[in-house]
Amino acid sequence: MGDDGKNTLSIRDNRTGRDYEIDIHDGDVIRAMDLRQIKVDDGDFGMMAYDPAFTNTASTRSTITYIDGENGILRYRGYPIEQLAERSSHLEVAYLLLKGELPGQAELDDFVHQITFHTYVHENITELVGAFRYDAHAMGMVTSMVAALSTFYPDAKELDDPKARWIQIIRLVAKLPTLAAYAYRHHRGLPLVYPENELSYTANFLSMLFKIGGREYKPNPVLERALDVLFILHADHEQNCSTTAMRLIGSSRADPYCSLAGAMSALYGPLHGGANEAVLRMLNRIGSVDNIPAFMEGVKKKEERLMGFGHRVYKAYDPRASIIKRTADEVFEVTGRNPLLDIALELEKIALSEDYFVERNLYPNVDFYSGIIYQAMGFPVEMFPVLFAIPRTVGWLAQWEEMLLDGEQRIARPRQVYVGQDARDFVPIADRD
Ligand code: CMC
Repeated sequence: MGDDGKNTLSIRDNRTGRDYEIDIHDGDVIRAMDLRQIKVDDGDFGMMAYDPAFTNTASTRSTITYIDGENGILRYRGYPIEQLAERSSHLEVAYLLLKGELPGQAELDDFVHQITFHTYVHENITELVGAFRYDAHAMGMVTSMVAALSTFYPDAKELDDPKARWIQIIRLVAKLPTLAAYAYRHHRGLPLVYPENELSYTANFLSMLFKIGGREYKPNPVLERALDVLFILHADHEQNCSTTAMRLIGSSRADPYCSLAGAMSALYGPLHGGANEAVLRMLNRIGSVDNIPAFMEGVKKKEERLMGFGHRVYKAYDPRASIIKRTADEVFEVTGRNPLLDIALELEKIALSEDYFVERNLYPNVDFYSGIIYQAMGFPVEMFPVLFAIPRTVGWLAQWEEMLLDGEQRIARPRQVYVGQDARDFVPIADRD
């Protein structure tokens, strides 16, 4: 609020000498549509904001996830990520993100029951799995399977029916691990393993991945819990590239399976959720601590990027990366130390002290250490982005439903600044230069 008690922004258009007063709300926010009144004359379209890559544009008001990038703070529905990672479970966090409040015991039991009893997928999906080449990337396979699920659930189009929305949410959260495990087993040439209802969300996932023959499969509880913590850390991250894709596709009222397949495609890129895979490939390529100085010179010359570093929002240490680093120690107690850790630690040490990285606020992000853990747990690199997509399914769906219920949202449709040719007449091909 200004000295005069006003919560407004005064703008003078020096082209016309006219003054405008625009409301400020939610702290520091103006509505882009309020700029439209600024015109040179009545025929003018009006002022717009130009913001490639949305670096300074809020596309929604949201109550789901809070990030303070300057101070490395992340909260889901107000709860600090550190407390959730320490004391909660992925499905409890899923309930929190989807419903807005932590569940009571009966509510949690019911939610876990619903998820557990929707883990099976239609048998025809197994034929789809078999159609992929043996070396198909797991992310492409799972994305395709998620899109295919749309054809099995016509009721998913009933977006205005809360019950229909909820059942799709349950199905997607429940089936993603099954689809991911199918992709892995196909890649390995192993028979598919069906879900087991007695196991927890992550134990069942590990069983579908690693169980061999008819023997009972009991995952190591440390690894089961570590995966659960990793899932909590990846469950939501407000308006990132894939979540924006989910909201954008959903805004056309596509069903959630198709929207989520689009979000997964956005996640796949190496600058987003594909970064965990890219980090592992980078560490393997560096090969030994001795090769780090030469590699870092290449990064500083911008010949390549230090994958797993940097973030659009965090200008401090990513709080998820700190928790993952601690989780890595627990996992390595069981699996043995991943030798790539030495390279990663040395890269981090250099990056935290050298001007290039310090000046640009480049800190490790969530993807820097997660891959090292996944590899130690026996996952091939192609599964890493899928391991991101499974928990993020919860966030995508929470954000999708928030978008649908937000009266201010309509079909998403950015404007452009046209800088191409003016109108010109078609020239027959024989007359062209
Ligand atoms: N290595 C080297 N230089 C970097 C890096 C990096 N990883 N990230 C940013 N920079 C430099 C960049 O060259 C630019 O330098 P200059 O100012 O001289 O032009 C400056 O830092 C700002 O970078 P930017 O590309 O404008 O930043 P952005 O906000 O557009 O990009 C990012 C954010 C995450 C895409 C980027 O930091 C990056 O490519 N990181 C590596 C990929 C990665 O780890 N992605 C996972 C992100 S976290 C999880 C998720 O979202 O999925």
